[in-house]
Amino acid sequence: MNTYLTKSLALLTLSLPMLTWAAPDPKLIKQGEYLARAGDCFACHSVTGGKPFAGGLGMETPIGKIYSSNITPDKKAGIGTWTFEDFDKLMRTGVTKAGYTVYPAMPYPSYSRLSQADMQALYAYFMLGVKPDPTPSRDSDIVWPLSMRFPLAIWRWMFAPKPAPYQPPATAVANAQVLRGAYLVEGLGHCGACHTARSVTMQEKAYTSNGNTDFLAGGQVIDGWSVPSLRNEHGGGLARWSTADIVDFLKTGRNGHTASFGAMNDVVAHSTQYLNNDDLSAIAVYLKSLPANNKAQPFVADPKVATQLFNGQPATAGALLYLNKCAGCHRSDGKGYSTAFPALAGNAVLQTSDATSAINIILSGGAVPSTHTAPSALTMAPYANELSDQQVADVVNFIQTSWGNRGGTVVARDVAKVRKVSVPVKPLTAAAFAAGREGTVPQPVSRPSSVDKLDSK
Ligand code: HEC
Ligand code: HEC
Ligand code: HEC
Repeated sequence: MNTYLTKSLALLTLSLPMLTWAAPDPKLIKQGEYLARAGDCFACHSVTGGKPFAGGLGMETPIGKIYSSNITPDKKAGIGTWTFEDFDKLMRTGVTKAGYTVYPAMPYPSYSRLSQADMQALYAYFMLGVKPDPTPSRDSDIVWPLSMRFPLAIWRWMFAPKPAPYQPPATAVANAQVLRGAYLVEGLGHCGACHTARSVTMQEKAYTSNGNTDFLAGGQVIDGWSVPSLRNEHGGGLARWSTADIVDFLKTGRNGHTASFGAMNDVVAHSTQYLNNDDLSAIAVYLKSLPANNKAQPFVADPKVATQLFNGQPATAGALLYLNKCAGCHRSDGKGYSTAFPALAGNAVLQTSDATSAINIILSGGAVPSTHTAPSALTMAPYANELSDQQVADVVNFIQTSWGNRGGTVVARDVAKVRKVSVPVKPLTAAAFAAGREGTVPQPVSRPSSVDKLDSK
């Protein structure tokens, strides 16, 4: 770091709460803004029609709704009186200036990996680059005694990683690019908050790839969408994707293999589309370096079903439904149309025993997020009103097992369960983004009942 920056940093840390809008270091604030994008603070701390970072986004938990806080620099409603030390402590340990521990929906266990320099830039941005807003933070709807905050401190002591400086992975492949990717994914990106399975006590099974194969191995279901593995493996992972495929997906929400849906739409729309190509490549190279956590076999194309459909001889009720309702976009060979209509043959979504996402996208439809490099929000219409549970099960079983796909099968009862949580999606347009937010919201991890017990003790 050059001495000018060091000096201005020291000045900032000493005197920030007293500083006004005059004379901030624009470069530092820009860097902080970039980091806030990488951390996706906007997605959780803003609501449609509200001011950026004024909080108020409700998040369902089994014990009641909690709301994100106002983190604008307003002195009364926001964090305007917080010193750098207050901010640093919250981001690394979850303990607020007022002394209580926040709910782990705020992904501080991941943010604790931030370097000191990045934490300072982030602080500078929130103090000087964000407009103060007087909207007060909302209290949670959780009733006493579950609303007591101190049991969260117990959770923190037991499970949250100790606030140690970031340790780079000790793998043989750890070059500078892999390290940068690990820093972004395991830190600000908090990809593991959704992509790593959770234990019964709510904490992620691993917070780093360092010798741990549970990390980013998938396994959570959020809002009726199963979150896939991001490891370099078959059977739902990224083995068939090149690093360029990963970069394309994070930048535009689509690539030749898939199109984004569910909670990932928000991640692409508010966060990853803003990352520069070097950082996206670093993330891709890092993800490709994660060894397989399963023994799944690679996808091998099987032409049998495509031939049957092509000859107008669907063999099952599901195949007939597919021919009538789906083949127009996804084609009888399941190869789709490049980045417009995703291929279903070989698609990672359809290679695991968990068919939740396949069921849900048929019920609720899908809308690819509109990004600044790929503005068209391509949609698939919802079939919830058109198809019965049995019909959805039939067509899901068809796409999960055709063209060489190795996914699991379902019965009507499984569809009925997803139907209860399924919400028809609205297209996410560029205009809606400019105005605020619309469409799907990221739902943070739900809290297992064992944790409620922990909380109420
Ligand atoms: C997945 C959702 C989520 C993301 C992403 C997120 N937050 Fe939060 N954050 C929350 C929630 C929810 C709370 C309130 C928790 C509570 O009340 O216990 C919170 C609380 C906070 C607080 C405490 C405010 C106070 O007044 O006590 C700060 C500061 C904060 N977040 C900053 C950030 C920053 C900076 C980022 C981005 C780097 C970020 N958050 C990203 C959900 C999120
Ligand atoms: C709020 C939850 C959430 C967070 C945080 C999140 N993801 Fe996702 N991600 C999902 C869901 C749900 C899917 C499944 C839908 C889809 O494929 O678009 C998904 C899918 C993906 C896929 C497509 C995988 C495939 O096989 O189709 C990639 C790649 C991905 N995420 C990368 C990331 C990266 C990198 C991060 C961190 C920067 C991240 N995700 C953070 C929820 C999340
Ligand atoms: C009008 C064209 C169209 C039709 C008809 C259509 N789809 Fe889609 N489908 C899409 C688009 C566009 C997406 C991407 C949506 C998204 O990512 O949110 C998609 C996504 C999917 C996905 C998730 C794949 C992925 O990687 O994103 C599955 C599974 C799927 N469709 C199955 C079906 C089935 C089964 C039918 C018939 C019942 C069907 N589709 C009918 C256009 C269509």
